[in-house]
Amino acid sequence: MVVESSLMSVSDAPFKYLWQMLDYNVPGGKLNRGLSVIDSYKLLKEGRDLTEEEVFLASALGWCIEWLQAYFLVLDDIMDNSHTRRGQPCWFRVPKVGLIASNDGTILRNHIPRILKKHFREKQYYVDLLDLFNEVEFQTASGQMIDLITTIEGEKDLSKYSLSLHRRIVQYKTAYYSFYLPVACALLMAGENLDNHIDVKNVLIDMGIYFQVQDDYLDCFGHPDTIGKIGTDIDDFKCSWLVVKALEICNDEQKKILFENYGNPDPSKVAKIKALYNDINLQGVFTEFESKSYEKITSSIEAHPSKAVQAVLKSFLGKIYKRQK
Ligand code: IPE
Ligand code: MN
Ligand code: MN
Repeated sequence: MVVESSLMSVSDAPFKYLWQMLDYNVPGGKLNRGLSVIDSYKLLKEGRDLTEEEVFLASALGWCIEWLQAYFLVLDDIMDNSHTRRGQPCWFRVPKVGLIASNDGTILRNHIPRILKKHFREKQYYVDLLDLFNEVEFQTASGQMIDLITTIEGEKDLSKYSLSLHRRIVQYKTAYYSFYLPVACALLMAGENLDNHIDVKNVLIDMGIYFQVQDDYLDCFGHPDTIGKIGTDIDDFKCSWLVVKALEICNDEQKKILFENYGNPDPSKVAKIKALYNDINLQGVFTEFESKSYEKITSSIEAHPSKAVQAVLKSFLGKIYKRQK
């Protein structure tokens, strides 16, 4: 932790709160994003033993992404009115916390440039690293904005939901920070220029879209004990992959059910939507999407000229294929 000593001298209450906030929000996830920095860097170095410094720096970048993720999730749970996260109440649901959580999000976020400054200031790629985190944060916040404005009260309109709107939302809100960012960090550490890796970015974006479709699927069909959160997409009128597919498949009568019940927290209305999803076999549609995406992504990976880059991308895909959480 990098905190001003002036804060330390005020009293230890801020420290107690800070540690509690960090312990509550940073650990407890799958660490896919953070660990991928280290794995990717190793693969780029083609299995050569890493020095202690390299392991340390790749781990520091991995933790920066995990802190970024904690920041996004603390705010996302407020905005989505969620209940649980990683198997515990959302941070803003903790009685003493409430909307202080939004400032905690800012604190989490502000530590990223501080960590980068502490450990990377002398590196040639320092500016690129700062720029990367800034751009990716902007892309994610933009995705969140598009996601959220589709659900504005009084402007709810299912007929505007389409696969292209869904793609736009999830590319921005999920793919850049969850998939491109870890690999881009590893590439920068390896001395690469990110402008030369647009094809890598494109594959990672496709992987991110696939990952968010899984997230949308699990929101409805996953078990809260496994995924650590209670789904809210139907209640929240989200432009989820499931509702987009349902709109494609439904007959007129079923469409009527969707229009009358989607986007309402009333449990009996949510149940009607879930029953409809079962009637039209959305689980089967998803399973087919899952294997098709896997094939498509694998073949674009195999088109890449570098075996080391192929290994990086395949390892990331392997971590998420058929995931249950
Ligand atoms: C939000 O997507 C992605 C970010 C946190 C930026 P979701 O709203 O679908 O994420 P979950 O399902 O609450 O984890
Ligand atoms: Mn959410
Ligand atoms: Mn979700």
